Amino acid sequence: MKVIAITGKGGTGKTAVAGMLVKQLSKGKKTLLAIDADPDSNLPDVLGVKVDKTIGDMREFMLQERDKLPPDTNKERLLESKVYEVLIEMPHYDLLVMGRPEGSGCYCFANNLLRGIMDKILKNYDLTIIDTAAGLEHLSRRIIRDMDELLVVTDGSRRGLQTAERIRELAKSLDLKIKNMHVIANKVTPENRARLEEYALELKMDLVGVVPFDEMVANFDLEGKPLAQLPEDSRAIIAIGEIIDKMGI
Ligand SMILES: Nc1ncnc2c1ncn2[C@@H]1O[C@H](COP(=O)(O)OP(=O)(O)OP(=O)(O)O)[C@@H](O)[C@H]1O
Ligand SMILES: [Mg+2]
Repeated sequence: MKVIAITGKGGTGKTAVAGMLVKQLSKGKKTLLAIDADPDSNLPDVLGVKVDKTIGDMREFMLQERDKLPPDTNKERLLESKVYEVLIEMPHYDLLVMGRPEGSGCYCFANNLLRGIMDKILKNYDLTIIDTAAGLEHLSRRIIRDMDELLVVTDGSRRGLQTAERIRELAKSLDLKIKNMHVIANKVTPENRARLEEYALELKMDLVGVVPFDEMVANFDLEGKPLAQLPEDSRAIIAIGEIIDKMGI
């Protein structure tokens, strides 16, 4: 069981990287779970998967049922049975989508559900890839606590790497169990590559890979085509393959 969480500044390409990792890893022999932990869900679109049930929907169900259930109901069991209702089974991986809970209020309940679900099901998979929302909430709220890899996606901007630095500090101060932290520079152009590498070195960031700005990715996005359909010769897909090899996943 290996858990890889993807984080970083908004818009740097976390979801694109997560989607391309799932696409390439799903070709291997390992059992794979993809989790979209961003309430503003995008990973299913990138993977080309239609979603009709999310953890957010489970929240509604649990709240509605809570008062109706006989006192001796095993709530853990109930939760577990519901998880399998929202788990989307694709031929080569499973997908779990956090979604947005209906109604007002905070995401605490859905977040707690997600945490509980992860505690139960991650052990069933060789590999889990988690796409998170921009910002530090998933870490600061300890929704994701134990991971083998924290992959921070940054773009060519200095601010992206500053966010990576903040994430590293936060992870340290919260004493999260993170075995490794790596940075992936995404949407990199020949113009900003050297500067980015220099700055990463300055911040002592372990740059595990550089994904170029890929016109094909940009065009797929414009045309609303899932990145899961990118051809093997896409520059971004080639770079993702190199990252997978380097990380040994
Ligand atoms: N390597 C790349 N080449 C070209 N365009 C890219 C590349 N990676 C991502 N993009 C584009 O950048 C935009 C942002 O990507 P994405 O949605 O993956 O970012 P994100 O970090 O998940 O954003 P958010 O913080 O909103 O979750 C998208 O339009 C995507 O198509
Ligand atoms: Mg995203």
